[in-house]
Amino acid sequence: MEQIFPGVVRLTFGTPETDTPSRQIYVKPPRAEALAALPPAEFPFGAESIRFRTAARGCRLELPLTPAEDVYGLGLNLKRLRHTGKKRTLRVNSDPATDTGDSHAPCPVYFSTAGYGVLVDTARYASFYCGGNELLNAEAKQENDGKIRLTEAELYAAGARSSAPMVIDIPAARGVDLYLFAGPTLLDAVRRYVLYSGGGALPPEWGLGCHYRACGTFNEEQVLALARELREKHIPCDILGLEPGWHTHAYSCSFVWSKERFPEPEKLLQELQENHFRVNLWEHAFTHPEAPFHGELKPYSGDFKVWNGLVPDFTLGEARKAFGEYHAEQLTRRGVSSFKLDECDNSDFISTPWSFPECSEFPSGHDGETMHSMFGCLYMEVIDRACREAGIRTYGLVRCAHAFAAPQPFVLYSDLYDHAEFIRGVTTCGFSGLLWTPEFRHATSPEDYIWRLQAMVLSPAMLLNIWMMPNPPWRQLVRERNVENEFYPPEEQERLETLTREALELRMRFLPYLYAAFAAYHFEGTPPCRALAMDFPEDERLREVDYAWLAGERLLVVPFRAGMSELTMPLPPGVWCDFRTGERHSGEVTLKPELGELPILVRENSVIPLADPVEFVENGMQYQLTLRVYGSAPEPARLFADDGWSFDYEDAAVPAWGTVDADGTLSAGLGKRYSVKAVERL
Ligand code: GAL
Repeated sequence: MEQIFPGVVRLTFGTPETDTPSRQIYVKPPRAEALAALPPAEFPFGAESIRFRTAARGCRLELPLTPAEDVYGLGLNLKRLRHTGKKRTLRVNSDPATDTGDSHAPCPVYFSTAGYGVLVDTARYASFYCGGNELLNAEAKQENDGKIRLTEAELYAAGARSSAPMVIDIPAARGVDLYLFAGPTLLDAVRRYVLYSGGGALPPEWGLGCHYRACGTFNEEQVLALARELREKHIPCDILGLEPGWHTHAYSCSFVWSKERFPEPEKLLQELQENHFRVNLWEHAFTHPEAPFHGELKPYSGDFKVWNGLVPDFTLGEARKAFGEYHAEQLTRRGVSSFKLDECDNSDFISTPWSFPECSEFPSGHDGETMHSMFGCLYMEVIDRACREAGIRTYGLVRCAHAFAAPQPFVLYSDLYDHAEFIRGVTTCGFSGLLWTPEFRHATSPEDYIWRLQAMVLSPAMLLNIWMMPNPPWRQLVRERNVENEFYPPEEQERLETLTREALELRMRFLPYLYAAFAAYHFEGTPPCRALAMDFPEDERLREVDYAWLAGERLLVVPFRAGMSELTMPLPPGVWCDFRTGERHSGEVTLKPELGELPILVRENSVIPLADPVEFVENGMQYQLTLRVYGSAPEPARLFADDGWSFDYEDAAVPAWGTVDADGTLSAGLGKRYSVKAVERL
């Protein structure tokens, strides 16, 4: 047992594999000072209570779990927030349609309501039996309560709360490193994990603005027409995304501009830049023979092709160099600011498999299974570096992540689309240092549209992924009709356009607040979006709340979905005020919002800074703030005031934290970026 940082311990069992997550190039140095600043904490159990054994199939760990504990984490989960009593197999899947642990971003790290976390340093598709399976010969420390169970539900509930341990089954490995993260609270344990991973990502301010992705078949003219329309209609937009059609060949990718669709890419990029759009390009890593660096990459690729493309072995410097240098020279240095890294997860397991098999061999010695787990993280690192080389602080999209991904400035997304699952995704990701967007693509009704937009307002990314529709959604929400240019009557188009603008402007009002939440993620390890159970694990009523989350230090957001008219939910301890009216609630609240009024509750005694909404962010701009003050003893709000654009924040000597109090007084150093124009007391 080796204490590597205060409250972080490493334990080695057997002989660990060499190709594990902690040994990868993308792992950033821990934030040592911030780790040391966390409160001291004891582990609830010692090394002697962990059992390890090996067998022909791999190795197995048993860790204590008491009946009172609930288990969270294990990566992005669209199907379930709380894992207690369940079996989760951490398999990378592009279509995680079952409640089994399959995910775009499975992470071998779990956290307990008892206030600790455990990272299992493996890239294998390990199975976690979260307290559902009792051992025959266990020296059970906790007995069942002895009651007779009458119904199946009681029986299963009892099973979930039995004395069964956490059992972890790791295929192929003969040993493993465990990292234990102490609390004392569950949130502190998560912070330790994030800080140990290098701290959370701090996106540039434009990254937190609105992101619109153009139709996949658009050409240069159509993209420019869309950009003009967004500006003419004053629809906030910072990032304009281009989908596969920009390549001469996609699936696999050539990474070369299609001359037919984009004859003058430099001019396009310049015009978009002049109009304050950052450009995000869609791609995947599978490299088509037409890619200029194909020959250079070939010796450093896996032994299977995907869509006739190479699968780069990004663990090797040569592959990173060929891929990364091309991106820097041809794309980022020429005005591309970010990327959407698609298809880096794995095939689904239903249709024809398209990705590389788990039995693939890579020149570095990795097999396809470990490569699938880490492919997203390796890919993010190469692309982040290509952006850095061009001086760009990026914020992109990605479809796969794993352990130690917290510092990577990328947000997860999926082709799945159930709205309740998309909202749950936000609540699950925070436990594993991941970011997720409940993106909008198309809608069945205006109600579905507006609630989907509103659900993103206080999420990691406000993303209108209109890649399948040639017309903006406010003209027609239903994809099949949009494609046929069948539009709503003009008044309805206007109403939807106004509701769109309002939702996007609400996002822009929260930008300074969100930016401070991300700065807290980076410097202090606190995830910007957190399940209620993360901050209030002692409150059993909140442990299954997977439809609401805490955003930043002060807000609780409860997204609505089409068909919902009213919701009664338990509230965390204390008084919570309605964001719009100031009405005070405690214990529980019944929400009955008007369409388009995202329910937001504010912790009593808060100052919430709201910016005048801008259509796009400018380098070092000054925000005009209106402060909303809730309660009679308001605590000042924290704000972060670097330039929002460069890497200066990475230099500890650049002071950027400050506060604004309920009288509108800004602390020293904030004046350049923020000005208070009004204070409203609710
Ligand atoms: C999918 C991706 C979509 C879209 C599409 C373009 O894999 O998830 O968001 O980019 O590719 O072909």
